[in-house]
Amino acid sequence: MQVLNFDTIVIGSGLAGLAAAYHASKHGTVAILSKSQLDTSNSYYAQGGIAGAITDEDSPELHYHDTVVAGRGLCEKEAVQLLVTEGRDRILELIELGMQFDKKDGEYVLGLEGGHSKRRILHAGGDATGKALTCFLLQIVKEQPTISSFEYTAATKLLIDEGQCTGVQAIDFISGKSMIVTAKASILATGGLSRLFSRTTNPHTATGDGIALAYDAGAELADMEFIQFHPSALSLKDKDAFLISEAVRGEGAWLLNTNGERFMKEVHPLAELAPRDIVAFSIYRQMQKLKSPHIYLSMKHMDPEKTKTRFSTIYNKLKEYGYDMTTDLLPIAPAAHYMVGGIKTDLNGETNISGLFACGEVASTGVMGANRLASNSLLECLVFGKRASEQAAKRKAATHQQIIQGGLSNDPKNEQAFLQIKNKIADLMSDKVGIVRNGKQLQETIIELEAMSKQLPSKTTDYNELKTKQILQICLLITRSALLREESRGGHIREDYQHESPDFRLHIIQQKNKEPLFIPIQT
Ligand code: FAD
Ligand code: SIN
Repeated sequence: MQVLNFDTIVIGSGLAGLAAAYHASKHGTVAILSKSQLDTSNSYYAQGGIAGAITDEDSPELHYHDTVVAGRGLCEKEAVQLLVTEGRDRILELIELGMQFDKKDGEYVLGLEGGHSKRRILHAGGDATGKALTCFLLQIVKEQPTISSFEYTAATKLLIDEGQCTGVQAIDFISGKSMIVTAKASILATGGLSRLFSRTTNPHTATGDGIALAYDAGAELADMEFIQFHPSALSLKDKDAFLISEAVRGEGAWLLNTNGERFMKEVHPLAELAPRDIVAFSIYRQMQKLKSPHIYLSMKHMDPEKTKTRFSTIYNKLKEYGYDMTTDLLPIAPAAHYMVGGIKTDLNGETNISGLFACGEVASTGVMGANRLASNSLLECLVFGKRASEQAAKRKAATHQQIIQGGLSNDPKNEQAFLQIKNKIADLMSDKVGIVRNGKQLQETIIELEAMSKQLPSKTTDYNELKTKQILQICLLITRSALLREESRGGHIREDYQHESPDFRLHIIQQKNKEPLFIPIQT
C-alpha cells in the first residue's frame, strides 16, 4: 500500500479545509484529501454570505449579542468572542489578499438575515458568495508549493497509535487503491451531514464522514441532536430542495401561508427575519394547520430588476424549474441544512485525541449554541481553520512506529444497494427525527437503526458497506442525543417537552463505549 508523509493532513476542501491548509502551509508540508472534486462542498453553494462587523455602525459586541441570542443559552461565550473579533480580522485579511466582496459606490453592500440586528453580511457575485470565496482560496492554495491535493480520495479510517492520531487511511476512487497518509497532525474539515435527511439543501458530499471517523477513533462528540432546518428551500415533488437564501427575506420577501396570510408578523417582532429555528418551526406549524406540503415565499411586491441582479443565481435556477421569482409565489418548506453539533474541540480546534483536530461544520467549538445565527458558519471556517492549523503546527513529530492496516476496496456493483439503504434511512430520519420530534418516535427510530446495524458484519473491507455502517452510526448518535434532551431549545423541538428547561443548559457528549455525559455550559 502506498504510504505518504506530510506535516499536516487536511481532510476536506470546503472553506474550513482550504483556510486550514493555507495557514498550515506556512509551517510545513500539507496534504489536502477530498473525496470529490476540490470545489464540491457545502461551502461552494453558500448563497447569503459571510457575517462580519466591519462597519462603524456595527461592532463585534453587537455581533456577539446576536449570536448568543440565536444560540438560546448554549453558546460558549469565549468561542463566540473569538468568532466575532478574529472573524472580522480574517475577512479583512481575505480582502487584503484580493477577495472581492460586492460593493456599490466604493462601499461594501451588506445583506441582512434572520436574527441580525445590523446589516453585516458581506456577499460576492450577489448570491454566489460560496463559489467566489472557495474559488478564491482554492487558487491561493494551488499556488502554495508546500500543499499537495488529492481529489477523489476519501478518508476511511483515522490511524490511532498509543492514543495519538498518526494519520489516515484513505481510498483513491480513480485507481481504486487504498493508501496511508501519516502526519504530525490531522485536521478533519469534512463538513456536515444534512444529506442523511431526505429533504436537504446540502450536496452529496455532506454525509457526516468526519463524525463517523472521529467517533470510531474515540473522539468526543457534542450536541448531535441539533440539526438546523433552513426555512426556505424550494418544495416541488421529486425535485431537490434548492435553497432560496434568507437574504431574500433580508431584502423584504414575505412568507405567506396557503391562505395568503403573512403569519410571521403574529409570531415574532422580527417577522420573516426572526432567528431561523423560530421561522422554520412556524412554517412547519402552518403546513400542519392548513394540511399543505408547503407555504409560499413572495417577492411580488419588490423591485423586480433589483431582485434579478442581487439574486441572479437563484433567479436563473428557479427559471429552470419554471418559476419567475419576481412574479410567482414560490412553494417552499424547511429542509435539513446544517449540523450544529459535531466533534468537540477546544478553542484551537483540538479534540480529546492528541494529533486530531477539527474545524468548520464538522466541529463543535461551542459558537453555534442550539441554533446557528445565519451566515456565521463561513466565518467559523475561517477563524477556526486558522486556529486549528496553527495549533497543529506546534506538534512535534510522532516517535512511534506506524502500523499499516489492511485496505478497503470499492466495488461499484455495491453502490446501488448502498444508495437504496441510504435513502431508506434518510426517509426515516426526516419522518421521525426531523423538525419536530417526540420520545416515542425517537425510540422507534433507535430500534430500527439498531436492527439495521445488526445485519451488517462487524468488520468490512468494502467501501459501500463501510459507508452504510457509518451512516447508521451517525443517525443513531443524532437520535440518541435527541431522546436524551427532554426539552425544546433552538433547533431541537420536542412535542412531549415543549419548553426550554434550565436543567438542560448543558452539552450532551457521546463517546464510543462510554455512557453519554451531560456537561454544563462553561462560560
Ligand atoms: P464543506 O464546505 O461541506 O466541505 C467539506 C469537504 O469535505 C468537502 O470537500 C467534502 O468533499 C470533503 N469530505 C467529506 N468527507 C470526506 C472524506 N471522508 N474524505 C475526504 N474528504 C471528505 N453558511 C454561511 O455562513 N453563509 C451562507 O450564505 C451559507 N449558505 C449556504 C447555502 C447552502 C446551499 C448550504 C448547503 C450551506 C450554506 N451555509 C452557509 C453553510 C456553510 O456553507 C457550511 O456550513 C460551510 O461551508 C461548511 O464548510 P466546511 O468547510 O466545514 O464543509
Ligand atoms: C442563506 O443564504 O440563507 C444561507 C445562510 C446560512 O446558512 O448561513
